[in-house]
Amino acid sequence: MSESRRIEERRGFPECVLAPPAALRALGGVGGHFGAPHVAGPTMTLDDLGDIKRIDVHDTRDVLAAFAAQCREATGLVARPAPSIDRPSAVVVAGMGGSAASGDLLAACAADRADVPILVHRGYGLPPVAGRRALVIASSYSGETAEVISALEAAIARGVPALVITAGGRLAELAAQYGLPRVALPGGLMPRMALGNLFFPALSVLAGVGISVATDAEVAEALETVDALGAELVPERPTRSNEAKRLALAIGNRIPAIYGGQDTGPIAYRWKTDVEENAKTFAIAGSLPEMNHNEIEAWRAPAAGGFHLLLLRDHAELPEITRRFTVLRELVEAAAGGVSESWTRGRGRLARLLSLAYLGQWTSYYLAILREIDPWTIPLLDELKRRMRTDFMGGPEMAPQTPQRSEPSRGVRGRTRETRDGPR
Ligand code: F6R
Repeated sequence: MSESRRIEERRGFPECVLAPPAALRALGGVGGHFGAPHVAGPTMTLDDLGDIKRIDVHDTRDVLAAFAAQCREATGLVARPAPSIDRPSAVVVAGMGGSAASGDLLAACAADRADVPILVHRGYGLPPVAGRRALVIASSYSGETAEVISALEAAIARGVPALVITAGGRLAELAAQYGLPRVALPGGLMPRMALGNLFFPALSVLAGVGISVATDAEVAEALETVDALGAELVPERPTRSNEAKRLALAIGNRIPAIYGGQDTGPIAYRWKTDVEENAKTFAIAGSLPEMNHNEIEAWRAPAAGGFHLLLLRDHAELPEITRRFTVLRELVEAAAGGVSESWTRGRGRLARLLSLAYLGQWTSYYLAILREIDPWTIPLLDELKRRMRTDFMGGPEMAPQTPQRSEPSRGVRGRTRETRDGPR
């Protein structure tokens, strides 16, 4: 591993082997999704493909391994009918969860070059900035997300130019009904694992309205970078040369506290949500310099011992940000349960941010495996959507929001309960 790609790990689990149960219990136990905290056995490793397949019953690893291909194919997706939209005064990406992440990535990539604000709207309706000279991109993988449907309805009512990115659902129906341009995404994925599908068409849409967020050369570099990184992070790649496995083992049972810099801050948030949804455990996220002005005070012993400080570094970060990371470490690492650093890859901003987000997907995947939790299913999220739909849309019947990739045949902890409680 080169100096620039080094991961600095302190007090993590020994390479390949999860800490003994007593050590895990001392750190608070591995929180299962349902029931009592689960403690993985002392011989659990991330290099046993049999173990990984036993836990990953929906073959999430195949979806993650195909991420570069997904991104490449997504660069060819276009809106139909072809948009005829003037250069907007503001872009509002309406999305939630995994479908908002593409908006965050767009805004982060645009930060150093676009003179048009790109805002990510997470909620019902639309803010006043979404006026008639703005562009609303309704981004929802399922097309069934109530907040995004509400935002699109507001755009239609206000006469704001709007475009839909979705695999189907109510959003697709609205687009057809009102003749709005729609990018039709391939279905069957979890929204958070469809980042390439959601992001690249939005990038093309913005280019089409005169807002350049990444050049063709930068897109090509990003695809190559993600492709190369994928080969290094798949389960077949052993821990000693697999950064995502090493990070997951270093974090172990602690709560990851993920901090990015001025540019990688949004990616830190994406890591947090991937940890929450894939590994079903808490994570916190923030960015420098802001956390230097508040959250840093929370890093005191003994509570800080339950957290793993994970710094998302960027080769292009400002010298001031570099110094802030250094001082932060000096001040808090004695109290922290552990410390790791991960660095962006590639030259262009898109390659750097996308590759870092991809590393987070794999790291959260291996955290799920360590906890013996299926990374695919999200039963509480599904159940919450089901109940909201029952209350506000007039009936309990709905298609499962969790795409049913395959019927798992092998047992995994919590699976029985998840199956019984999941939407049908
Ligand atoms: C599930 C996921 C969620 C969804 C969110 C909105 O994999 O990532 O965060 O993205 O519940 O649903 P969609 O993306 O279908 O609009």
